[in-house]
Amino acid sequence: MINQILKKARAGEELSAEEIAALLSISDEVEQQALFDCAYAVKAEQVGKVAYFRGLIECSNICTKDCLYCGIRRGNRNVDRFQMTEEEIFREAMWAYEAEYGSCVIQSGERQDEGFVSMIERVLRRIAEASSGEMGVTLSLGEQTEETYRRWREAGAHRYLLRIETSNPQLYAKIHPADHSYEMRRECLRRLRRTGYQVGTGVMIGLPGQTMEDLARDVLFLKEIDIDMVGMGPYIPHADTPMGQEIGVYTREQELAALNLGLRMIAVTRLVMRDINIASATALQALEPTGRELGLQCGANVIMPNVTQTEYRPKYQLYNNKPCLDENSSMCRDCLSSRIKSIGETIGFNVRGDSLHYKKRTQES
Ligand code: 5AD
Ligand code: FES
Repeated sequence: MINQILKKARAGEELSAEEIAALLSISDEVEQQALFDCAYAVKAEQVGKVAYFRGLIECSNICTKDCLYCGIRRGNRNVDRFQMTEEEIFREAMWAYEAEYGSCVIQSGERQDEGFVSMIERVLRRIAEASSGEMGVTLSLGEQTEETYRRWREAGAHRYLLRIETSNPQLYAKIHPADHSYEMRRECLRRLRRTGYQVGTGVMIGLPGQTMEDLARDVLFLKEIDIDMVGMGPYIPHADTPMGQEIGVYTREQELAALNLGLRMIAVTRLVMRDINIASATALQALEPTGRELGLQCGANVIMPNVTQTEYRPKYQLYNNKPCLDENSSMCRDCLSSRIKSIGETIGFNVRGDSLHYKKRTQES
């Protein structure tokens, strides 16, 4: 039956929720490898065997939100809070530009105050000016007003990542405090689309209480809202969070199960949305040293090498076992470059690597 579904997927036929759930539920190793190979063939054909780099700048761990899974949630008193200056963010973006990454991602905890909004705006203008508008800039700064999204877009950002976390509103309510809203998250994705960004979203995979049917619906949700990019990764418990305390540290067996489910989600997402950009999440590498290469071999085509100053890295732990905490930007560059070479792919240096899906949909309209 799995082979039948894969044949359909390879030919570009639509998959039903049941068929997607069947692929996600694979437990047999041979069948799983067939799924990965099929997704890799579709990736190679549609977007090529090229990995695009986005230099990841984790610019602040100050957060007004209190998500029950996240290590930098407002309620975690064990976090030493930091905020990079405008100059520091700009310098790291320029490091990525000079390292020929073509794009960077500016990520932080969620803040909506004017001081923060205008600081980001100034950084964006400086990056655009210094790179003559060449540098691709993705923002991952949470829920904001439409006006803020517009200001940042006009200042030079052109992609935005905002994960829906789960498309099941009941599950969303379980993993967030009562004042965090699924509807607002949906609305923000609509705002981003209206303000002209390449829009990326994604989910956490392997959440407590999440079923294969939930995940299948997540994939169809991404397709339905016509997303340009996907960033998703396995949920990993963080010891200083309510959810992490309930679940405890993963055993090796649980780690491998989470890794494999994460990889199956990437593969299925590539089969269902053939021309989008899919990131190989850092969280995959927290579960297995070669996790990010495996992500690329299952259909992902984007990787986010960390370019954050080493001193800040230990302060930005969303989950336990985050890799690269002691490394610096050059080390991550060399490390990921050789990892990519090892799987026979090339790196898309000096190009933005925009989502093919976005290019197509904007040419059409
Ligand atoms: N495990 C995996 N991913 C996490 N995130 C936050 N906490 C965790 C965790 N414990 C993800 C969320 C968020 C993104 C920035 O990091 O999906 O959107
Ligand atoms: Fe950072 Fe390997 S990617 S050390």
